[in-house]
Amino acid sequence: MDKFRITGGRSLKGSVSISGAKNSALPCMAAALLTPETVTLHNIPYVRDIITQRRLLEDLGATVLTPELRTHKINARNIELFEAPYELVKTMRASVLALGPLLARFGKAKVSLPGGCAIGTRPIDLHLAAFEKLGAEVRLEAGNVVARSPASGRLVGAEIHFDKVTVTGTENLMMAAALARGRTILHGAACEPEITDLAELLNKMGARISGAGTATIEIEGVEALGGGEHTIIPDRIETGTFMAAAAITRGELEIMDCQPKHLTCVIEQLSDVGVEIDEINSSKLHVRATKSLTAKDVTTEPYPRFPTDMQAQYMALMTQARGRSIIVETIFENRFMHGSELQRMGARIQIDGHKAILEGPTPLTGAPLLASDLRASASLVLAGLVAEGETVVDRVYHIDRGYEKIEAKLRAVGADIERIRESVTAPLSRTSVKDVAEVV
Ligand code: EPZ
Repeated sequence: MDKFRITGGRSLKGSVSISGAKNSALPCMAAALLTPETVTLHNIPYVRDIITQRRLLEDLGATVLTPELRTHKINARNIELFEAPYELVKTMRASVLALGPLLARFGKAKVSLPGGCAIGTRPIDLHLAAFEKLGAEVRLEAGNVVARSPASGRLVGAEIHFDKVTVTGTENLMMAAALARGRTILHGAACEPEITDLAELLNKMGARISGAGTATIEIEGVEALGGGEHTIIPDRIETGTFMAAAAITRGELEIMDCQPKHLTCVIEQLSDVGVEIDEINSSKLHVRATKSLTAKDVTTEPYPRFPTDMQAQYMALMTQARGRSIIVETIFENRFMHGSELQRMGARIQIDGHKAILEGPTPLTGAPLLASDLRASASLVLAGLVAEGETVVDRVYHIDRGYEKIEAKLRAVGADIERIRESVTAPLSRTSVKDVAEVV
């Protein structure tokens, strides 16, 4: 497996361009299953999860053309298969986003039940209960979710109350309800910018969705949807990661092609810690950290509060801040795996259930590290940038899932980081040849 070798101690300087949002591109690609006409998506990030989603769509029978690197033209006219197999779902939970569109358009879908993952059990019970509210028959069979729409053929609009905020649950139900008979109201919906972006695409395809971005979304079902063309929003988590990279290295970065308005809470938190952040315009940030950082507590919550996907990066930053900080993770039950790796570098961190208590600043020493999930690996890379000596982060396939060419982007602003490829003698699978060539 590829690794990153990082030699710490350099301040980052320069400008970096942000890619499209993985967590918007994935549902927007799934939305193409709702129509026989072509959906064209621009600003698609070149990351591993997008390759997996593309493979899922092609396995179902869709065609995916890429006239340009970051443009996908998806056509789902000839869907022959209604199943997202275990092999794919186990590599990417977001494959469950095929469930809503397949059920709504074809009246049937079979999706492998995603098991737990490194950060938590992550059930999809709220998705399934909501599909049942729309009249679907849902059963579990040999590790698969098998869903069928009512005998009348179409799903039927209903009022749905989510007991917990779920991002992909909201997206799945928004897509399903777009083709249901009658009106659906989603209460307790997730408000993430990725939800608003998906609703924008669906409305371009002829859906009638209002209230996306708020906790109450109304969907007036239509008979059929057409094609559409849409540009994916910038990745706010990649933006936040580079803001933390500038801060932890006491550097200065111009972050371009981002959307500061999606990061209000992160900008506030980092400013309170002592990072100087200027919003140059609606797509550019200037981030600088010249003075020492002050520790500050944080609690992760659904948007617009502090995102759980920035928690690991923030923890790395807090190892370098003066004083004690308490990080409370409320979204996932097991999202502190990076903590024990940071401790191996010398960080003073106590983990107590959903809480992590840090003392800083602590000099970090380079070490061999193991990435456990996407955001944890970003946190280890940040720590490697400030550590004394050399850090080797193993299993960077995690980071390739959601960051486009992160080592090249970091190197371009002065980081001493390189990718150590999987040795040429290792057995090569079909996917790794194609993907690595494509991703990097
Ligand atoms: C999305 O995951 C993101 N993934 C995650 O980003 C992100 O961490 C998460 O939202 C929270 O912001 C994508 O958009 C592809 P949830 P999702 O359903 O939708 C519980 C990254 O790093 N829950 O909002 O799977 C669940 O266990 C990834 O890019 C149920 O109990 O998350 C969790 O505790 C990681 N039953 C909480 O709700 C359900 O049916 C929030 O999960 C659904 C969720």
